[in-house]
Amino acid sequence: MRYSINLRCYVACVQDLLDSPQVQSMRQIPHHPGVNCYDHSVFVSYVAFRLARRCSLNYMAAARGGLLHDLYLYNSHDRSQYEGNQCFAHPKAALRNARALCADLTPMEENIIISHMWPLARRMPHSREAVIVGLSDKLCAAMEVFGLYRYLKRKPHLPAPA
Ligand SMILES: [Fe+2]
Ligand SMILES: [Fe+2]
Repeated sequence: MRYSINLRCYVACVQDLLDSPQVQSMRQIPHHPGVNCYDHSVFVSYVAFRLARRCSLNYMAAARGGLLHDLYLYNSHDRSQYEGNQCFAHPKAALRNARALCADLTPMEENIIISHMWPLARRMPHSREAVIVGLSDKLCAAMEVFGLYRYLKRKPHLPAPA
């Protein structure tokens, strides 16, 4: 019951983004082993949403910024798609694409996206919501890399892909 209330609230925060072709196109982009960019972004977004809601923070910004944090929209294995190091290049590309997608992207959401690789990258989080998304990203990435995501996905804990 509580899960379905959280899930409904989460979907209401991000429905317009989930329906967009740009976000859906992340399904075609490989991210971590066996996990595409869309699944990773929904995972991060939902975990950040739950944490932000639990802490009475701006859960809408956490959910939306989390969903867009890796909206770089290219295959990172193709080095011709970006300049320099993917670790530093992809938050900039994600922010550029998020701005093009959302005319009403807030400064907090912009900072969530650009700072999500901190402390590896230099751009720092300016809000607790940005810190939460950064931590959720690292936690989710670790679960994906160690194969725990596939186990979780078999249980009804995460929003099922549309
Ligand atoms: Fe990222
Ligand atoms: Fe990520």
